[in-house]
Amino acid sequence: MPAALMIRPVCPRDWADVARVAYLTGFFGQSARVYFPDQALFGALWIGPYVQGTGAGSFVAERAGEVVGYVLGAPEHDRYRQALSRVVARQVIRRRPTSATLRSLRYLWRAALYPSPHADWRAFPAHLHLNLLPAARGAGAGRRLLEAHLSVLGGLGVPGVQLSTTTENVAALGLYRRLGFEVLETRITPLWTPWLGHPATHVLMGLRAPGRDRDPVRRD
Ligand SMILES: CC(C)(COP(=O)(O)OP(=O)(O)OC[C@H]1O[C@@H](n2cnc3c(N)ncnc32)[C@H](O)[C@@H]1OP(=O)(O)O)[C@@H](O)C(=O)NCCC(=O)NCCS
Repeated sequence: MPAALMIRPVCPRDWADVARVAYLTGFFGQSARVYFPDQALFGALWIGPYVQGTGAGSFVAERAGEVVGYVLGAPEHDRYRQALSRVVARQVIRRRPTSATLRSLRYLWRAALYPSPHADWRAFPAHLHLNLLPAARGAGAGRRLLEAHLSVLGGLGVPGVQLSTTTENVAALGLYRRLGFEVLETRITPLWTPWLGHPATHVLMGLRAPGRDRDPVRRD
């Protein structure tokens, strides 16, 4: 029988593991190495801002002592943006580029050219990321992670949460719809075409009043 999967709040010693899982799943559920060879820079940019204390309500999924997935979120967009700026400044000032860094710049350049869509940050100030290693998928962990996160957002009174996924992420689309997210916008993007072989379609989704009962039982 496989070991039980535990969902628990992220703690400081988890960040390296979270960065590892993010990297192993960062290309439509597979390794980000294909488009971003600099794993350390990937961890700094994708995970660094949450390490700086913006990631309230972040959880990991752990099995047999190994982190196999996570939900990361930032309830306040402005704080997240400031943390990201600090991370970028630190990387630019302190880091000596390697050949892997230079090969990763192509993606960063394309991401600046073809940004992901986002919704009005006042209506949807929170955003989140959710990823599981392949062996941990399809057993309810994604749903448990997301429910735990939404419940924290509900407790904070966050008006809305947004996320960006793609039509390639079939399971993610199913899960988000299942938990009440609606599609706010779709947009075809050439961002990943050099590595994916064809354009992808961004799907911007949002959920208002996350973590609060949206279908109360009438008592009258
Ligand atoms: C997306 C992901 C987090 C979902 O987690 P999971 O543990 O695999 O999903 P769960 O077992 O909790 O399933 C929850 C719901 O998701 C949907 N779902 C899960 N797997 C699915 C699949 N293969 N196809 C379609 N829908 C699927 C279903 O609606 C399911 O609810 P149901 O079982 O009641 O029908 C996980 O599959 C994953 O990490 N995938 C790769 C990375 C990724 O796409 N991350 C999201 C980036 S935006």
